[in-house]
This record gives sequence, structure tokens and C-alpha cells, in this order.
Amino acid sequence: MSRRLRLRFDLATLPAAHHGSIVDRDPSVRRVRSEDQRQLADLLLDAYRGTVDDEGEGPEEAAAEVARLLGGAYGAFDAAASEVVELGGAIVAATLVTEFEGRPLIAFSLVHPSWRRRGLGRAGLVRTLDRLRSAGWSEVRLAVTETNLPARSLYEQVGFRPA
Ligand SMILES: CC(C)(COP(=O)(O)OP(=O)(O)OC[C@H]1O[C@@H](n2cnc3c(N)ncnc32)[C@H](O)[C@@H]1OP(=O)(O)O)[C@@H](O)C(=O)NCCC(=O)NCCS
Repeated sequence: MSRRLRLRFDLATLPAAHHGSIVDRDPSVRRVRSEDQRQLADLLLDAYRGTVDDEGEGPEEAAAEVARLLGGAYGAFDAAASEVVELGGAIVAATLVTEFEGRPLIAFSLVHPSWRRRGLGRAGLVRTLDRLRSAGWSEVRLAVTETNLPARSLYEQVGFRPA
């Protein structure tokens, strides 16, 4: 089994330029709604399919995972910090945050395979960090599979460092 790396982001280092920037007024970006559960489960399944984290889960496992996340199994779900990107009526990206052990945790960063490498993952992460800073947090944590190179590159590029 692949090792999980723990990374942290010091919110004091987030460039001030992001603060209140126009990206938070993008109409395709919105909060998670309770009726999104099925679409989020589909996104989870599509995003992980064929990646190093794919353990062959099906729709039922994905739905259960989303229910656990929103239900607080990984710490209270932070609806104010989390977001989805909806394009053409479909959720194509999501950045989902919980409060775990007294600190914000990026529980999932997901971009549909058809929408990759267009900056959606990075933009969602930066907006989320900005909201967390505005909410008064000073650091953010996450865990990533050591061999998940796309995710590791994204987190490193944004400024996450080993915790
Ligand atoms: C990780 C993930 C969210 C990235 O989303 P994305 O929208 O494609 O990423 P971006 O376009 O914002 O890329 C930002 C940077 O991340 C890095 N990156 C993203 N995908 C990469 C890849 N396949 N290979 C190498 N670097 C990659 C690059 O540095 C990239 O910058 P660049 O395009 O200027 O070179 C997406 O690949 C995904 O959903 N993966 C499956 C789910 C997952 O593993 N999530 C993370 C763990 S919860």
C-alpha cells in the first residue's frame, strides 16, 4: 500500500492578491447543496478511476463515502469553505473541507477527467484557502498518497509543504 504524505499550508503565505479577488464572483462556483450528493459521488468515482487511489469502488461505495464526508465522519463538514464548480448543469470540480482535529483539512480536491489541466483544481484550492484565511484560520492540512503525482504537484505548486 502507498504511503500517505501529510502536507500543511501556512495561510499567512497566501498572496494578498487573492484576497477578495474576482474569482470568488465566478458564477460557476457555488457552495455544496444537500441535493448534490449523487453528483458528488459520480465525480468522486470519475475522478479517482484509474488513479493510484482507485481501489475498484463502485457507485454505492462512492455514495457512502460522500455521505460519510458530509455527515462528519472526517470532522465537521465546512460548507462555508468548500465549493463546487458547476458547468453546463454538471459538477465538474469540487474542493471539500472538514474541520479535523481542530484544524481545516482539505478532504477532497476533485476535477472530472474531461476538465483536467485547465487550472480548475488550482483555482478551487486557492479560493478555498482564501476563504479559510478570511474565516480566521492560520493553517490548513491535507494528506495525499505518495504516488499520486498530479495531486502532489498541484499541492506543491500552490505552496503546501511537508507537515
Ligand atoms: C489532482 C487534480 C485535482 C488536479 O486537478 P487539475 O484541475 O487537473 O489541476 P490544475 O489544472 O489546476 O493543475 C495545477 C498544477 O498541478 C500540477 N498537475 C496537475 N495535474 C498534473 C499531472 N497530471 N501531472 C503533473 N502535474 C500535474 C501541475 O503543476 C499543474 O500546473 P500546470 O498545468 O501549470 O503545469 C486532478 O488530477 C484530480 O481530480 N485527480 C484525482 C483525484 C485526486 O487524486 N485528488 C487529490 C487527492 S484528494
